[in-house]
Amino acid sequence: MKKVLTGLQPTGVITLGNYIGAIKQMVKYQDIYDSYLFVADLHSITIPQDPKELASNIKSLLALYLACGIDPKKNKIFIQSENLYHANISWLLECNTYFGELSRMTQFKDKSQKNKNFTSGLFTYPVLMAADILTYDVDYVAVGLDQKQHVELARDIAIRFNKKFGDVFKIPEPLMAQEGTKIMDLVDPTKKMSKSSTNPKGVIRLLDDVDSIRKKIMGATTDSGMEIKYDPENKPGVSNLINIYVSLSGKTIKEVEEMFKDKKYGELKKEVADLVVNEVLDIQKKYNEIINSDEINKILDDGIKYTCEIAKKKFELMKNKMGLHR
Ligand code: TRP
Repeated sequence: MKKVLTGLQPTGVITLGNYIGAIKQMVKYQDIYDSYLFVADLHSITIPQDPKELASNIKSLLALYLACGIDPKKNKIFIQSENLYHANISWLLECNTYFGELSRMTQFKDKSQKNKNFTSGLFTYPVLMAADILTYDVDYVAVGLDQKQHVELARDIAIRFNKKFGDVFKIPEPLMAQEGTKIMDLVDPTKKMSKSSTNPKGVIRLLDDVDSIRKKIMGATTDSGMEIKYDPENKPGVSNLINIYVSLSGKTIKEVEEMFKDKKYGELKKEVADLVVNEVLDIQKKYNEIINSDEINKILDDGIKYTCEIAKKKFELMKNKMGLHR
């Protein structure tokens, strides 16, 4: 069975965009791949975090993923900082990564420009990510477009290491989400739905109360004309609502267009709102059960035990190849 891995940063809230674009994809992968899912808490501290908030975000994120259908029997689930090998492996890789390579990472360039007083962790972040990936010899890394360059760097590092020290790492490939799973902002449907958006009306958070979710969808920006047709370029608002409908109903775009052929925008919105609210209510119910139970601890204990064994072997192999032994 092929392996897939993904890391999740425990920062901020989870949106409908994350749900459709990432979580639902992982839920599909868990049936066809050996799946690894971890909380990338070491990545989140590359920018300052409030310790109390960080700790509660980690737990809440895990509970939400489980509530969304991530099955602990089908995934190895763990917290990155609990697996001490990741940071150690990262150091060995850092000594095989060039300053120039890291300087060219677009995320680093963006973030370091926004905050001139950035940490060196922000700079070496992609190497830690390479360690997360290469440790488990995965075939695929599930990421959004913004992380693709980091997966490519992980490949470069692995190829170089293998050349220098012998066959140590499998070369992974990025696994990008399917078309139609990128959900746009409800107020400005030319922008991606993002938790950092300035207008909260455009963003649906999975833990929002459902009345406000319904209001946001009913108030979504639509386009001129009357026709309910999938045309992202000329009708971004309507196309976004169709994408949400398609993703949650399992119907095709054609089927949805057919269903709403002679209907008004308002009817499409109402049906989309019904679907979203139904699904969110179910998720929230499960979330509340999980967050108040001891289930998460048990899952994490199993996950860390399993992944530490694999990581230890990889770390020892790297050290041996590099001459770090008695
Ligand atoms: N950098 C990723 C993000 O911000 C999170 C992440 C850390 C990750 N390590 C990873 C994703 C390894 C995939 C594989 O979204």
